Amino acid sequence: MADIVTIRNLTKTYGDGFEALKSVNLGIRKGEILALLGPNGAGKTTLISTVCGITRPTSGTITVRGHDTLKDFRAARRLIGLVPQEISLEPFERVMNTVRFSRGLFGGGRDDAHLERVLRQLSLWDKRDARILELSGGMKRRVLIAKALSHDPRVLFLDEPTAGVDVELRRDMWRVVEGLKADGVTIILTTHYIEEAEAIADRIGIIAGGDILLVEEKAALMQRMGQKQMEIQLQDPVTEVPAALADFDLQIGGDGTLIYTYDAQGERTGITRLFSALPDAGLVLRDVQTRQSSLEDIFVNLVNGDAA
Ligand SMILES: Nc1ncnc2c1ncn2[C@@H]1O[C@H](COP(=O)(O)OP(=O)(O)O)[C@@H](O)[C@H]1O
Ligand SMILES: [Mg+2]
Repeated sequence: MADIVTIRNLTKTYGDGFEALKSVNLGIRKGEILALLGPNGAGKTTLISTVCGITRPTSGTITVRGHDTLKDFRAARRLIGLVPQEISLEPFERVMNTVRFSRGLFGGGRDDAHLERVLRQLSLWDKRDARILELSGGMKRRVLIAKALSHDPRVLFLDEPTAGVDVELRRDMWRVVEGLKADGVTIILTTHYIEEAEAIADRIGIIAGGDILLVEEKAALMQRMGQKQMEIQLQDPVTEVPAALADFDLQIGGDGTLIYTYDAQGERTGITRLFSALPDAGLVLRDVQTRQSSLEDIFVNLVNGDAA
């Protein structure tokens, strides 16, 4: 699918000399949900703020549907909505007015029919005349999304939309995001929750220390996670894989064990066949242990600088 946002060789060094983005290259595909997963201080907010024109890049280029975010700021900015990490709303303002004001900031003419659609989509229509201070935390977050959608952007950035939010609200937020995707909005969200990336993303990007370490289809990552390993301890340790077991994906472990790698999600794991082949190879089973690599392993390894 075509990229709607293209980021090339983007760097950001703050005034104090801190290099928050090293050299980011990233294409965001039209219509996808991309989760940028990274620990605190990784550069997630810096990246999003730079794309949204709130922070100036030190070098590199960003285009949104072909519009350069510096040279063609207005056209690029009009296509983008941003839900910032921090909730900042006027407590005494009413919901509809808050959202209408946001639309005005983008030079959008008054279009209450559009705002009604947005508020209904976010289940806020009944609260349109409520003051912000009367709303629950979850509703305030929805108001932030409504503000970001007020000028009908095609790309929506959500910076840690569920940080510090309880499980129910988190699921609620995921449903909102999925609804927006169904409406054709491209969504980029940052998170430090692995489960969140797993739950809603089409692609997952891992960011740490100002670098994007990996961007991959979630399904492909899940497949990698599906790889399981079983360590087979034998009565008598082995030094090589017996010829009778050559058909199996086996390696020799540290203490003369056999390590069998298999696809846990596959139709057949091959475990039964392997176990019944052990006596043919003159081996006696003593003990087995299994382990599964998870997105968390992949994430921790990458972020700690090991090879994936
Ligand atoms: N205005 C700033 N001046 C100097 N350093 C900053 C500024 N904003 C962020 N940083 C630093 O840049 C790094 C990345 O920050 P940020 O983009 O907020 O990370 P994240 O959103 O992933 O937690 C952090 O080390 C942070 O301290
Ligand atoms: Mg942040």
